[in-house]
Amino acid sequence: MERVVAEAERLQAADRVIVALDVGTLAEAERLLDAILPVTRQVKVGMELYTAAGAEAVRLVRRRGGRVFLDMKFHDIPNTVAGAVRAAAALGAGMITVHVAGGRRMLEAAVRAAEEAAAEGSPRPRVLGVTVLTSMNAQDLEETGEVPPLSELVARRIRLAREAGLDGVVCSPLEARLVKAMGGRGFLAVTPGIRPSGAALGDQARAATPATAIANGADYIVVGRPVTKAPDPAAAARAIVASVARALGERGAACGPLPAGPLATGASRERSAEARARAGRPDLPTPRPDEAP
Ligand code: C5P
Repeated sequence: MERVVAEAERLQAADRVIVALDVGTLAEAERLLDAILPVTRQVKVGMELYTAAGAEAVRLVRRRGGRVFLDMKFHDIPNTVAGAVRAAAALGAGMITVHVAGGRRMLEAAVRAAEEAAAEGSPRPRVLGVTVLTSMNAQDLEETGEVPPLSELVARRIRLAREAGLDGVVCSPLEARLVKAMGGRGFLAVTPGIRPSGAALGDQARAATPATAIANGADYIVVGRPVTKAPDPAAAARAIVASVARALGERGAACGPLPAGPLATGASRERSAEARARAGRPDLPTPRPDEAP
């Protein structure tokens, strides 16, 4: 854990920005890599590109010197997920994701598989749990049979991920402070749902600006369309890295390397802290009224 704390706190701004290569062909991926790799080495390969191009997508990023966040959100029986984690480790993925909803035994199998892969000579990938997709709001959850409130579900999944030995979670930038409070400084908070001020929300529901994500304690942010659909993806990525650098400076000046957060059970306090933050931050995307937390 100490090693992870040191690793998370030493990261430069550019190392904290993961660009999601959500495209359908290797040729498009290559074009985007040309633009973004001079800005950040951190690249997400997810379902779209992996389904279209397979493991070659991961090899391409690795050949070009990028680090791969393989976001396949594994969710299956423990034995199958363990096999997928071993395969991802052998490909050289640095971070991989599993759904926390897959349950304790599945999560523990994923961690064991990552450790076994490391013992056999592959670099040990960080295993991250997806708490609740950042596109989901309270109504979506209710329709799928989850028991609201959303903030309570997120808190439960953070706790389960921690207990099962995961390295951190993927969560909304609005939940990063809770992750740090519950998981400790070395428990990674990786936050998609990032929208620079004025950017379209698209299908994201629980979104925030890069600066808010970092102020809330996020270790990494995952950004897709605001970079990949920008007229100049390199310039868009540079602007995001610059705002992360500023927010890191402010975070360091305000309260040390990572912010102190509310108590583990302080979901309501978390909500009011966010409301206060929003009140002072007119640059944030406007939340829908049904959004939580
Ligand atoms: O284009 P956009 O910035 O919304 O992309 C966000 C990326 O983060 C997508 O690749 C999506 O799959 C991923 N992601 C997410 N919410 C999660 C986990 C991953 O949006 N909870």
